[in-house]
Amino acid sequence: MARVAYVNGQYVPYGQAAVHVEDRGFQFADGVYEVIAILNGRLVDAEGHLVRLERSLDELRIRHPMSRAALTVVLNETVRRNRVKQGNIYLQITRGAARREFAFPGDIPPTVVAIARSVDMTKAAANAARGVAAITRPDIRWGRCDIKSVGLLPAALAKQAAKEAGAYEAWLVDRDGYVTEGSSSNAWIVTKDNVLVTRALSTAILGGITRSAMLELARREGLTVENRAFTVAEALAAKEAFVTSTTSYAMPVVSLDGQPIGNGGPGVVASRLRALYEAHAASHGAGDADWEAGFLAP
Ligand code: PDD
Repeated sequence: MARVAYVNGQYVPYGQAAVHVEDRGFQFADGVYEVIAILNGRLVDAEGHLVRLERSLDELRIRHPMSRAALTVVLNETVRRNRVKQGNIYLQITRGAARREFAFPGDIPPTVVAIARSVDMTKAAANAARGVAAITRPDIRWGRCDIKSVGLLPAALAKQAAKEAGAYEAWLVDRDGYVTEGSSSNAWIVTKDNVLVTRALSTAILGGITRSAMLELARREGLTVENRAFTVAEALAAKEAFVTSTTSYAMPVVSLDGQPIGNGGPGVVASRLRALYEAHAASHGAGDADWEAGFLAP
């Protein structure tokens, strides 16, 4: 069966799916997106992602193209038509297409695109069993990293640097020497005293949906959690490190800039949290998370 993309109200053959050349997403990166995992053909933590999407839209004063319920129908239909069982769906919403001017155009319809794709999870499982390498890069992004904007060039540059170094992820480091987050993930460590540390929410990081779910799972496990910044030196001295994201779940990080973390293998806390998150994802995240309050405002 041929793949289809959802574009502005229609399901279009993938090869013919297109947006206008003066779309503001293309011209100005004037748009936002979400990535939602698909497991057994169903969306994981869809509500959290849609709450965050609406917040991103509101922060940029982009009109909501449709209700949350209607968007959910579109996402599920895109998954169904592409027969994706395991994978993810990318939803992009831009301010729309208009004659090129920096300032906002009048009230134009937003552009909405959804693309679902299958992902072979065996590679992720192998990575998780072995642990992955990370490098550090300066965080050169803008001042509103809490908005999931399609302006991803600094992230792409950091990820390319990681790839060229044979690493899985780049941890971004702010001017004061503190890790903000990964280029496409949230960053975590477990200290020698068994304290789970991840940076507090602020405009410096994206409030990850996986991060929120993981915090809840960690609390239920009785782990001590601190939401605070940590330095690269603290990460190197940590017992464990890992990253969380929609596509990585919890992925153990076993080296940073070529230096081993802990015993150089996946840690017990990261592995336990990954297993708990897999169960959470298999239940499609139908938990009791209060997404409206949970992960957004600093
Ligand atoms: N990235 N931080 C950044 C900068 C991200 O791009 C992402 C997600 C996260 C984790 O957020 P979540 O847990 O909601 O996926 C944190 C998505 C997956 C991407 O690769 O586009």
